[in-house]
Amino acid sequence: MHGIRVLKAFGRSDEAQASFRIQAQQLRVLEITKARTLAAFQLIMILLPEGVLAVCLVSGIWQVSEGNVTAGAITSFFGVAIVLKAPLENIGQLLSMVFMAKTAIDRHIDVMSIPPELTSPERPAAAPERGLVELEGVSFRFPHTSQAEPDLLDGVSLRVEPGETLALVSSTGGGTSTLLSLIPRLHDVTGGAVRIDGVDVRDFDLADLRSRVAMAFEDPTLFSASVRANVLLGTEHEREEDDPHHPQRPGAPGTDELERVMEEALTTADAEFVESLPYGADTRIGEEGLSLSGGQRQRLALARAIAARPSVLLLDDPLSALDVRTEERVTERLKSALQGTTTIIVAHRPSTVALADRVALLHKQPGQGARIAETGTHTELLARSELYRSVMAPQRELI
Ligand SMILES: Nc1ncnc2c1ncn2[C@@H]1O[C@H](COP(=O)(O)OP(=O)(O)OP(=O)(O)O)[C@@H](O)[C@H]1O
Ligand SMILES: [Mg+2]
Repeated sequence: MHGIRVLKAFGRSDEAQASFRIQAQQLRVLEITKARTLAAFQLIMILLPEGVLAVCLVSGIWQVSEGNVTAGAITSFFGVAIVLKAPLENIGQLLSMVFMAKTAIDRHIDVMSIPPELTSPERPAAAPERGLVELEGVSFRFPHTSQAEPDLLDGVSLRVEPGETLALVSSTGGGTSTLLSLIPRLHDVTGGAVRIDGVDVRDFDLADLRSRVAMAFEDPTLFSASVRANVLLGTEHEREEDDPHHPQRPGAPGTDELERVMEEALTTADAEFVESLPYGADTRIGEEGLSLSGGQRQRLALARAIAARPSVLLLDDPLSALDVRTEERVTERLKSALQGTTTIIVAHRPSTVALADRVALLHKQPGQGARIAETGTHTELLARSELYRSVMAPQRELI
């Protein structure tokens, strides 16, 4: 259903329907086989006691006529047999239900017995507050990549001071999104270490870490819920107030304050269009925000990251879908909003780089993993680095 627009636009409706029909047919055959098996099983469970009773009746009459058994004995035998028959038949039905339940339980156990790869340590360190981010000799490769391939990231070292805004620049597919995902431990590094406030991220409680590190992903996924619920997703109100493992952060917004936090975040992300939605912030948006435009979704995702009031903010190309004017406005507002928050912003355009105090260029040599090739301010790098100019140049000429 999600891809229906694409199928329509490319005129592939008939093919999609044909493939759907084949799968529906397979499902039908499977369901009918299942129903037949169950019916056969129940037939046996019903016929067997009935058959036995019929045999008993015939042989009973014969025995009575021979004078071996009294008519009273036979009558009481059948009295008992009829009482027992119904429960026996029910056992048949119960057994077939047990088989179905067993299949479902096996599936459940298959999934639930996979041990989680990323776990919190036994004794987690106190949650990060300052937001000093350090990457030291970080290497990373996705599992199941072929051994011949070099690591995706190989020896990335980077230091972002508390409150600093760093732009991360690379050519497409260079590994910037992957690098960002290592900071809230969406993946674990395969070598080196990521530290926040001097503590390895693997030593934090996962929930603590992820509540202090907010991320706006490059594909802004929104949930089928109100705008308010989407924007306030990362704020502390979701947490149990008296959970001893995750105490409320001091200074976390109270329920009254959340409204203000949301409004601020929406303003910073230039998402005032929310006010003109039919029910304002209470408007329910569709799955993945389907009723909104790409740029609107992107601004809501940005507002969501800002509203979480994180110590470390990770923005993966957050302005890519905006027109130049809107981008300028958001850049201005972000600049003042980001003061004091450590921010790493992936940028493909010089206008986004303008937000940053410093730029780091992630570069991949052929046959090697990506590493930081240059760091400096935008102007410095433009003057100094041929590589940086080649990544940024076409747009620079436009401007
Ligand atoms: N889950 C995954 N499993 C295996 N390989 C992956 C996975 N995610 C990304 N990759 C590969 O890692 C490389 C870097 O991907 P990444 O998304 O980090 O690039 P990027 O720098 O963010 O690109 P872009 O600038 O286009 O957003 C790509 O070659 C991609 O194919
Ligand atoms: Mg990316």
